[in-house]
Amino acid sequence: MPTLVVVGAQWGDEAKGKLVDVLGSQADMVVRFAGGNNAGHTVITGGKTYKFQLIPAGILHPGTVAIIGSGMVVCPKGLLEELARTLEQKKDLGTLQISSAAHVVFPYHRMLDALEEEARGENKIGTTSRGIGPAYQDKVARFGIRMGEFVQPELFKMRLKEVLAYKNRLLQMFGSPTLEFDALFDEYSGYADQLRPYVVDTEVMVQEAVEANKKVLFEGAQGTFLDLDSGTYPYVTSSHPVSGGACLGTGVGPRALQSVLGVCKAYTTRVGSGPFPTELDDEIGQFIRDKGQEYGTVTGRGRRCGWLDLVVLKQASRLNSLSGLVVTRLDVLSGIEKVKIATSYDYEGGQIDHIPANVWDFAKVKPHYEEMEGWDGDLQKCRSLSDLPESARRYLDYIEEQTKTPVAIVSIGPDRKETIVVRPDLIWG
Ligand code: IMP
Repeated sequence: MPTLVVVGAQWGDEAKGKLVDVLGSQADMVVRFAGGNNAGHTVITGGKTYKFQLIPAGILHPGTVAIIGSGMVVCPKGLLEELARTLEQKKDLGTLQISSAAHVVFPYHRMLDALEEEARGENKIGTTSRGIGPAYQDKVARFGIRMGEFVQPELFKMRLKEVLAYKNRLLQMFGSPTLEFDALFDEYSGYADQLRPYVVDTEVMVQEAVEANKKVLFEGAQGTFLDLDSGTYPYVTSSHPVSGGACLGTGVGPRALQSVLGVCKAYTTRVGSGPFPTELDDEIGQFIRDKGQEYGTVTGRGRRCGWLDLVVLKQASRLNSLSGLVVTRLDVLSGIEKVKIATSYDYEGGQIDHIPANVWDFAKVKPHYEEMEGWDGDLQKCRSLSDLPESARRYLDYIEEQTKTPVAIVSIGPDRKETIVVRPDLIWG
């Protein structure tokens, strides 16, 4: 069964977009299974830079079916803008389909996102303010409006009437302005008209593709430790970016997943609040931020940067049943004399090699580091492992040895060709 799940193994922004683009060229179908336009996937190819937030990056390959899965929440206006922008850059795209079970993000979700952050005071999460949390809350509370309802005018009217009456009472309680039904319904009906042709029961399409032995790529967004259950709660997103989310968010069972690749940077970054044991608040952190252009694609915020944390990767390997790791941005560390890797944590007088489930305990851990020789030179020209400096190869070997997970792919630059495939056998199972 040639199916592959690609997940972020850290806190998001691991350069999954590039990988999905590279592997998407081999896939018949690419399905995104979680999140919304809180994600930002950048693909640089043929001298052009494409920025995706909702559309699976695999759409760049004509002949590929690109699916927005049921586990996603969709801002219709954002999606239409993204589609128009992508079509302006490239005419021959794959076929876009949107699950009728995906949820719609409305302006009241964004308003409530801001109000909730304000209410959290010092403990604010640092969300992307796209209304993602409130949209998933509505899904769980059964107040959500799904794509399949949204594109049927009578159903949409009925559901929006019911939901908006409740939301307006909530907004009033916060002392916030409310939303007028007619204006909202008219504006969003316009978006629904444009999106209607794309909305189908994609779950059946994915199931049939898996049964027919087609190459299906399940595209993750965000990262393992932003997962609602397995991440550093409450500093997480509201969906399931782990590999299990690929089942929940597309309509297939676990035996439909063959290979799972976890994408990690050669260092660690995080945006928003929450513990980050290997964070570097010094000139090396700034070096990584500048050289790696570690600024959020969605919010423009400077990302927090730090050393690679193998405790994080070991846990990611277990949580996702990783078949292999994809180590990205190895080129960014070039020029640092000595590099450090966290191998375990000091915690309450002992040593642990897992992330405590309670985030307040996690905030107390101190990383235990292994120091290694750094490397220098322009790695972007390397095309095989043997082209890499010896110390960079040792760094990769150490990651493999400690995580007990093979390095399947190494990325040494943003372009498609700056990719070294080490273990092709781990890609499609
Ligand atoms: P939300 O998903 O907007 O609710 O934000 C919750 C947390 O997840 C915040 O810390 C965000 O910075 C983080 N987050 C959400 N999406 C991404 C992403 O694509 N990359 C990195 N961090 C993200």
